Amino acid sequence: MKIRAITLFPKMFDCLNESIIGRAIKSGVLDFEAVDIRAYSKDKHQKCDDTPYGGGAGMVMTPQPIYDCINAVDPNHEYVRVYMSPKGERLSDGLCRTLSENENILLLCGHYEGVDQRVIDLCIDREISIGDYVLSGGELAALVVIDGVCRFVDGVLGSSVSHEDESFSDGLLEYPHYTRPPEFMGMKVPEVLLNGNHKEIDKFRKAQSEKLTAERRPDLLKVTDGESEVDGGH
Ligand code: ADE
Repeated sequence: MKIRAITLFPKMFDCLNESIIGRAIKSGVLDFEAVDIRAYSKDKHQKCDDTPYGGGAGMVMTPQPIYDCINAVDPNHEYVRVYMSPKGERLSDGLCRTLSENENILLLCGHYEGVDQRVIDLCIDREISIGDYVLSGGELAALVVIDGVCRFVDGVLGSSVSHEDESFSDGLLEYPHYTRPPEFMGMKVPEVLLNGNHKEIDKFRKAQSEKLTAERRPDLLKVTDGESEVDGGH
C-alpha cells in the first residue's frame, strides 16, 4: 500500500518509523511519504495561508499550494484522496477495513481554520473525522487513520495475528488479557485460562466480551438490519 500525507508539518509523521508501521515501511509492505505543501507555494515567501474572506478568526490555507502539491503527487488520480476534517465521516473499524482495500491513499492535513473550500471541491474524494473534537491540525488524525488502516493490510501484522479476536471485529469489545506471572500483587489469573480447555476458554472470553460491552458500550449491542452498528455499514 502507498500512502502520502500532504502537510505543512512533515516531521510530525516521523513517529511512523517506529514499531509495527515502521517495520512495514522497512520491509516494503508500506510505502509512506509525508509531502511538504510549502514546497509547492508560488508565493515569494512560500506563504500557504491568508485571512478568511468575509472576516472571522484565524487563517485559512490557500488553495494554490495544496492544489499543485496534490496534482504533483497524484497526477492521474490513482489515490483515494481524503481530507482530514472534524466535518467528515466518523472513522470506525469498518471504515478502516474499507480504506485498507485501496492500493493508494492520500491524506490532506489542514491547519489553522481549515483549507479553502475550492481545493476540497476540486481535489478531494472523501472527508474523514476521527471524532467529535477539534484538533489543531489534521496530522494527528491522519496518523490515526494510517495506523488503523495499515493493521488490515496483509503483511503489516505478523502472520500469527488475527483480527477476529480484536475489539469491534464481532461488534463487541475485546475480552481482557493476562500473561505471566499467574499471580501478581495478590491478583490471580482466572483459573479457566490456565487449564488448556479451549472450549471453556472461548466461552469465558465471549462472556467477558459481552459483559464489558454491555457495561461500557451498550450502543454496540444495538443491531441494525442484521449488522452491528460498529462497522458503520461498511
Ligand atoms: N482536524 C481537526 N480536527 C479533526 C478531527 N476531529 N478529525 C479529523 N481531522 C481533524
